[in-house]
Amino acid sequence: MTILITGGAGFIGSHCCVTFLEAGHDVVVLDNLTNANSESIERLKEITGRNIIFEHADIRDQDALELILRQHRCEAVIHFAGLKAVGESTQAPLLYYDNNVAGTVRLLSAMDNCGVRDLVFSSSATVYGDPKFLPLTEEHPLSAVNPYGRSKLIIEEMLRDLSASDPKWRFAILRYFNPVGAHESGLIGEDPLGIPNNLMPFIAQVATGRRENLSIFGNDYDTHDGTGVRDYIHVTDLVDGHLRAYEALKTRRKGDGCFAVNLGTGTGYSVLDMVRAFERASNKKIEYEFAPRRFGDVAACFAETSLAERIIGWKAQKGLDAMCRDTWNWVCKNPNGFSQPAE
Ligand code: NAD
Ligand code: WQD
Repeated sequence: MTILITGGAGFIGSHCCVTFLEAGHDVVVLDNLTNANSESIERLKEITGRNIIFEHADIRDQDALELILRQHRCEAVIHFAGLKAVGESTQAPLLYYDNNVAGTVRLLSAMDNCGVRDLVFSSSATVYGDPKFLPLTEEHPLSAVNPYGRSKLIIEEMLRDLSASDPKWRFAILRYFNPVGAHESGLIGEDPLGIPNNLMPFIAQVATGRRENLSIFGNDYDTHDGTGVRDYIHVTDLVDGHLRAYEALKTRRKGDGCFAVNLGTGTGYSVLDMVRAFERASNKKIEYEFAPRRFGDVAACFAETSLAERIIGWKAQKGLDAMCRDTWNWVCKNPNGFSQPAE
């Protein structure tokens, strides 16, 4: 079975390639490399010992998509391609609607023309907006608090509409909580451009000495230690959820082909919990200071995970120590990410 993986050179997509290849599928990676380095493809070859077909293309180019789907006889799509920086999305909303929303319209149109009707979509817990209750169940009301989140919500609605319009479509919508960690080989991992926005890569860069200290955004939240609580999930668990979702999708009956599930562990950790866990994993002191709350942040966010267990037979296996250990292994082996040489 050949599967097209859009955004497959990026953080989560590259890990997904390993999982699908190891499960015996063939994969074609499509990426425009706006937020990835083609070195990740070379590393995938090293990890899996398999040849990886890489198509340097943009999901907004429908002709290219159709050519690729036909040429490689793809039977399903795992769709990671998208821009994901919340702050940037508030500055350049049209870029996000064009890249994420219009890009997905082009992808679905190309799939339709080529008779490919199964898709797994990277959504986000951000579609729940400000939590009204915790843990977040899939029934929690949906709302968007920034253009990035709105782009995910619009795509989700589009998939539900498309599925209702014609039972031939089957969609698995996966709402990720906070993906962290790296492949245990240390050959692939998260490689943010510039100053990391997210907590884990920032802490990792403090541990390697690339950044001086961490600013902890807020210590007066209503949480166990006053710092923000999130549901961090190991990226290899997360991509395992994609394989399970894909397998579940193939068994769905016509007309019942669109489902949305949370991919999280169900456990929330605070920023200070993360700092301490990373100190244990790295044996380094993480210097930090308290700073004002970051605009748009919520106090706590974590998943109810039983629906994923029921619908796709998946449950996260790895704990915080493994997440920190594998992130540390990745940054030690690649202090400058995929760009060589090391600093
Ligand atoms: P990433 O930036 O590492 O990967 C996305 C990939 O898509 C990149 O390789 C980028 O070059 C590619 N891409 C972007 N626009 C494209 C286009 N128009 N055509 C072709 N390729 C394009 O990000 P990631 O963390 O691996 O995230 C993957 C997906 O998961 C994204 O859709 C993201 O919104 C979603 N997601 C991520 C997180 C997270 O915290 N990392 C959380 C929830 C959801
Ligand atoms: C985690 C916690 C921060 C950095 C974001 C997006 C979300 C999703 C995942 C895609 C919070 C605190 C962080 C720092 C800190 N992406 N923090 N100092 O905000 O839960 O989610 O990424 O869908 O849409 O909003 O993750 O890693 O940025 O923050 O104190 O330098 O760490 O305040 O409490 P977040 P994060």
